[in-house]
Amino acid sequence: MTEKSFSFAISGRDGRARTGLIRTAHGEIRTPAFMPVGTAATVKAMTPEMVRATGADILLGNTYHLMLRPGAERVAGQGGLHRFMNWERPILTDSGGFQVMSLNELRKITEDGVTFKSHLDGSRHELTPERSVEIQDLLDSTITMVLDECTPFPATEEVARLSMERSMRWAARCRAAFRERPGYGLFGIVQGGIYPELRERSAAALAEIGFEGYAVGGLAVGEGQELMFRMLDVTVPALPDAAPHYLMGVGKPDDIVGAVERGIDMFDCVLPTRSGRTGQAFTRRGPVNLRNARHADDPRPLDEASDCPASRDYSRAYLHHLVRSNEILGAILITWHNLHYYQSLMAGLRQAIADGRLGDFAAAFREEQAQGDI
Ligand code: GUN
Repeated sequence: MTEKSFSFAISGRDGRARTGLIRTAHGEIRTPAFMPVGTAATVKAMTPEMVRATGADILLGNTYHLMLRPGAERVAGQGGLHRFMNWERPILTDSGGFQVMSLNELRKITEDGVTFKSHLDGSRHELTPERSVEIQDLLDSTITMVLDECTPFPATEEVARLSMERSMRWAARCRAAFRERPGYGLFGIVQGGIYPELRERSAAALAEIGFEGYAVGGLAVGEGQELMFRMLDVTVPALPDAAPHYLMGVGKPDDIVGAVERGIDMFDCVLPTRSGRTGQAFTRRGPVNLRNARHADDPRPLDEASDCPASRDYSRAYLHHLVRSNEILGAILITWHNLHYYQSLMAGLRQAIADGRLGDFAAAFREEQAQGDI
């Protein structure tokens, strides 16, 4: 094994939860990890230096957006996505299937892949498992995701089965197309809707192909937290234990805590960044909407005990004013605060697992969230 080969070392466990370190060609990822979303080669409103300072080890980028603009070959010509966006640490790219489905009404899925019209200029494009992997290679993605179909919710068992089985055939094609390099990895994605048996079959099919990590897809699509947790209860134990487990597109802070308790190691979600641009802050005491008039005369910061300047050094009255005036700084400060809050939550989870006190940590987290903003 070379020094830079892709590896995952679990250093502590508490119940089903794990903490550890993923080693990659672009550096290390402490788990459980939260990946800020950098869809269009930018974490909106943040510089890479600011994102790093919040404690992020890895970012997520999107095949779909980058293939349309500026184009994968153009990014490759600039030395890859890391150099292009000045983030030299690990990057995971989503494969495009999910974004085609959520951003395109005029798409068509066949066994070969998915064809769609660009949401930017209406031009026609095709994404096959092979092309998705090739694009992620051109981007120099540290972790490539297989092309999959995110089964819509609700779906009948028959529809979910056919969709999952196709995603598994696509996963095998992605594995065959993936160019192996030390320190780079390809992750499979479990589908199967809300059907436990389909989830188990999907996990077994992916384990049979063999991946550097395993994602759980098709969740947080409207099924609710209880059903999502039930799906994790059947899916995660069916995944290879020694590989990283990634829950795609999740979530709210309490979704993350519950999923970590169920054996998930990686997360991504637009919530902290998107909410940051609409005036919603995440705090130890739950969400705070800074647009609300009750903040107009409040001199207190979002969290005076925080070591993040955005959380500590600006009053709610000022943040309220910035949000109401549509000032760019409002988006910057609240995004910065939110990313810092998410990364401190992950650091707290990692430490709690290492110390064998995740149960106490989760109970204290839930109690404080339930108190609400005061
Ligand atoms: N992001 C959130 N859910 C999904 C999913 O099911 N598949 C993919 N590729 N990305 C996702």
